[in-house]
Amino acid sequence: MKSLANKVVALTGAASGIGRALALQLADRGCHLALADVDAKGLQDTQAMLPKTVNVTTHSVDVSNKDQVYQWAEDVAKAHGGVDIVINNAGVASHCAIEDINYDDFNWVFDIVFYGVLYGTKAFMPYLRQRPEGHIVNISSVNGFFPFPGNGPYNCAKHAVKALNQTLIQELRGSNIHITSVHPGGIKTNIARNSRFIKSMDPNMNREKAAALFDKIASTSADKAATIIINGILHDKQRLLVGTDAHILDILTRLFPQGFSNLVGRVMLRGAKPATGKLNTRAGEV
Ligand SMILES: NC(=O)c1ccc[n+]([C@@H]2O[C@H](COP(=O)([O-])OP(=O)(O)OC[C@H]3O[C@@H](n4cnc5c(N)ncnc54)[C@H](O)[C@@H]3O)[C@@H](O)[C@H]2O)c1
Repeated sequence: MKSLANKVVALTGAASGIGRALALQLADRGCHLALADVDAKGLQDTQAMLPKTVNVTTHSVDVSNKDQVYQWAEDVAKAHGGVDIVINNAGVASHCAIEDINYDDFNWVFDIVFYGVLYGTKAFMPYLRQRPEGHIVNISSVNGFFPFPGNGPYNCAKHAVKALNQTLIQELRGSNIHITSVHPGGIKTNIARNSRFIKSMDPNMNREKAAALFDKIASTSADKAATIIINGILHDKQRLLVGTDAHILDILTRLFPQGFSNLVGRVMLRGAKPATGKLNTRAGEV
């Protein structure tokens, strides 16, 4: 896509982090915005930061709810007269070993991170087809090609997002719709604080320590990530790595596919106990 001026962008997860930074920068580029999130207050705060000249709509949408996403797509097309770009960005994570996590918690992540992206893609495709040029940006992660222990549902869902993106690239070749598969490394946002801290394999880890550790490790700002993603759209990039750590992980994964994974597992689980095999139960759950 050569220019973003006057393009209508539908963006999920716009109340925080990368989504908010994208909203602010896309507004600067002259886009009109349809912003969605489950966090209505955060969405209002994002809207208040935007210049008054931008045509903005905000929508309370749970991306894991298919009906809500399809209704949102219809509302956006009506309110803005069409849609040029959809950015499926909303996401969540959890802390728990696969052996210990219950299915509700697993599905909470998978439904938002994978199905949210699938619904957002399919619901908007008919509208993108009507434009001279359309673009779908689906946010995966480095965890879409390299897993971290204790993050199983997210690893699985982000791998599935990558597979979805690659399939779409194959199927839409030569059409008016471009796909960008985005794989950020650590980005300084609220993702760790917003995650479900269920049970760490490390007995010394708790929610606060995990969030503080993430803040220390995440090396790229949300602003920088948004700039890289927007440049990716402007250059019709099919695969986009965000951050130096993402580039390093990409190289090491190619060179030592299993050996590097084993090493990271060993280092990250130093001091951790093996999974207990007792299915985690939340309050009130049996
Ligand atoms: N922060 C990182 O290090 C990192 C790395 C790789 C990929 N990502 C991905 O980037 C994307 C943005 O995450 P972020 O880092 O800005 O996190 P964030 O927590 O700051 O923002 C995520 C946003 O998604 C929204 N959201 C959560 N569940 C939702 C739902 N069901 N429906 C609608 N909105 C929902 C949240 O309210 C929040 O506003 C996510 O897909 C995340 O997985 C982040």
